[in-house]
Amino acid sequence: MPATIISGVAVATAIRQEIAAEVAALKERHGLVPGLATILVGEDPASQSYVAAKNRTAHALGIHSEQITLPAATSEEELLRLVGQCNGNPAIHGILVQLPLPRHIDEAKVLFAIDPAKDVDGFHPVNAGKMMLGQRCFLPCTPNGIVELLLRAGIETAGAEVVVVGRSNIVGKPIANLLLQKRPGGDATVTVCHTRTRDMVAHTRRADILIVAAGVAKMIRADQIKEGAVVIDVGVNRIGQTASGKAILAGDVDFDDVLAKAGAITPVPGGVGPMTITMLMQNTLQAAKQAAGLL
Ligand code: GUN
Repeated sequence: MPATIISGVAVATAIRQEIAAEVAALKERHGLVPGLATILVGEDPASQSYVAAKNRTAHALGIHSEQITLPAATSEEELLRLVGQCNGNPAIHGILVQLPLPRHIDEAKVLFAIDPAKDVDGFHPVNAGKMMLGQRCFLPCTPNGIVELLLRAGIETAGAEVVVVGRSNIVGKPIANLLLQKRPGGDATVTVCHTRTRDMVAHTRRADILIVAAGVAKMIRADQIKEGAVVIDVGVNRIGQTASGKAILAGDVDFDDVLAKAGAITPVPGGVGPMTITMLMQNTLQAAKQAAGLL
């Protein structure tokens, strides 16, 4: 039997309806409109399309959103000044600086400059630290979206052997941490594989749940997974373009190859991606409520 396809679009749509209803109620009862500022430095086409999708979704849910686009040559000082302005702007509850930043800008310094109370990406060390300790904080959007997707798809993580491929600060490290937490959607036994792992396939073949965030197109094939495994594909790789110039995307998993062997799988596009954006909206709503003393 082919794998169940876990639709991130369907789950994200359901959560977005809940968020839109809450945003509308907040406006009606408290005159409060959640506000998000997105900051994009440079012209990377993938980043441009991600930021555009974030702003589009915000508008669709009734969230005020300001898209700030800066040239690649923007100085670190200028970017820090802008972040400071957003920190002080009461109409902005959430700030997102799209990564990666140009090489001349110190990413850690910029993320540290964001007010932790407006850090809807959950990248500030204060939020990352709180997450590790299991304290209430803004959770990073992709890992949080994956946990939410597993929960809503009814996939049991407690006691499961979870293997994560990739150790980035944005996905690999935080998803490993969330799955380890003592709570629903956690309680897993987690292994993290990376470029220095000696025998990656020995690990991936043991996984009940395999989460791949390596940034290598179609790297996981059927012979690398266990029969019936749940496969979560976080990769978004541009492998070409159509005649009209639209990017052709592939995940880190060879979807067609794995489909017959996996128990469930997320597609690319339409899997984890829509969940990431939805969690950003949820965090922005949470930030606005916290700022107004409603949480
Ligand atoms: N680049 C890739 N993923 C993300 C994300 O979730 N947030 C930001 N700010 N940049 C990213």
